[in-house]
Amino acid sequence: MSHLIRFPAGFLWGAATSAYQIEGSPLADGAGLSNWHRFVHTPGRTKSGDTGDVACDHYRRSEADVALMGELGLTAYRFSIAWGRVLPTGRGKPNPAGLAFYDRLVDALLSRGIAPVVTLYHWDFPAALEDAGGWLERDSAGWFAEYARVVARALGDRVALWATLNEPWVVSDAGYLHGLHPPGHRSPAEVPLVSHNLLRAHGAGLLALRAEGVQRAGLVVNLEPKYPASELPADLAATARADAYMNRQFLDPVFLRRYPDELAEVFGVDWPEFPPDDFDLIAQPLDFLGVNYYTRSVTQDAPEVPPVRAGPVRQSGLYTALDWEVYPAGLTDVLSWVSGRYPRLPLYIMENGAAFEDPPASGGLVADPLRVAYLDAHLRAAHAALAQGVDLRGYFVWSLLDNLEWASGYAKRFGLYQVDLVSQQRTPKASARYYAGVIRSGGLNGTGQHGSADPGAG
Ligand code: FCB
Repeated sequence: MSHLIRFPAGFLWGAATSAYQIEGSPLADGAGLSNWHRFVHTPGRTKSGDTGDVACDHYRRSEADVALMGELGLTAYRFSIAWGRVLPTGRGKPNPAGLAFYDRLVDALLSRGIAPVVTLYHWDFPAALEDAGGWLERDSAGWFAEYARVVARALGDRVALWATLNEPWVVSDAGYLHGLHPPGHRSPAEVPLVSHNLLRAHGAGLLALRAEGVQRAGLVVNLEPKYPASELPADLAATARADAYMNRQFLDPVFLRRYPDELAEVFGVDWPEFPPDDFDLIAQPLDFLGVNYYTRSVTQDAPEVPPVRAGPVRQSGLYTALDWEVYPAGLTDVLSWVSGRYPRLPLYIMENGAAFEDPPASGGLVADPLRVAYLDAHLRAAHAALAQGVDLRGYFVWSLLDNLEWASGYAKRFGLYQVDLVSQQRTPKASARYYAGVIRSGGLNGTGQHGSADPGAG
């Protein structure tokens, strides 16, 4: 006899996207040139030269996309605001047409009973601000606060949850250490400055949101648990450095008002002395923490890879198309680690999902058994964290639609819906059916078999 593994009443069932990855029409209706638009139009920056010029054309199809969310039965939708649509040069006079797009989106969501979850900064921002120094500039905290105020004034209390930043680690690591994201720098000395200014922006943004009456605001970080490849002291130390760099770099300052000690060792002479007062700004109390989880890393000492000098050891299990190991237990581990290390507060899994090679649609459906299995296993892992007493309040699949996977282009597909980039036709994948079934029943089949109800049916 099967029984249902239930999630708590009121648990948010969501899907997530971000503006530059899906919207297209990057310069429409007075939007300012963004750092990402400029970056993808620089030869060699993205796989196959892919750009967000059209993307999923969501800017023009948002109503139909909200209808898809209704078919899935989503109770929440996480999307980001393109800063440059709202403030074309980053500061100053708001652009009413840009705000109107998000205003309509929020109303469309609410009319279907879907809670809007807003991320203010999911990596795209006005090129004018990048030219003014971007996140290297201490004033960036003030720019972000001004932007947060404008959006909060416009969308006000219609938004259920507000996230300041998405994955600040990726911004500093990919943008300033590895040159894979804008501004394309490869400068270890810039990394701590950028991370610190992002955290200051987060704090200033929270204050701005609260000044506009926002009640539920937090931060979204990507966490990747690091497990030592061996008990050798060198591997244990490398694992601690990797964990400090990727995970604790952004949480310790927010919750413990300091950086992990290992970072001074990682950055050496590049590790700055930060003004102590900055931590007053950074450590604003949060209403929730958002955790994005995709994979783990089994870590070994790697002296040849500065500055962290740690590297992954390949495992024997399944890897996704982005070469990320499928490791559901890491989600349970990381949620219970966060709950134990930091003050207890509501947690949301703000992104979880997988890129796999999908076959063409057949009979109106795309068969994606690996993604179904990935989601099912991670939902079980999330439930295991709940059973351990973690205060988990919601789960968001990355992503609603196949979209522009940043520098990896369109070839890496995460969607519950396949998107034909020529016709813009959306076709549900089996994972969409699976997820709709989970939402409808409020839980998972206790026998571990994947459900397969039609989205929209029932
Ligand atoms: C996360 C990003 C998101 C998407 C997924 C696959 O790091 O937040 O935009 O690219 O990875």
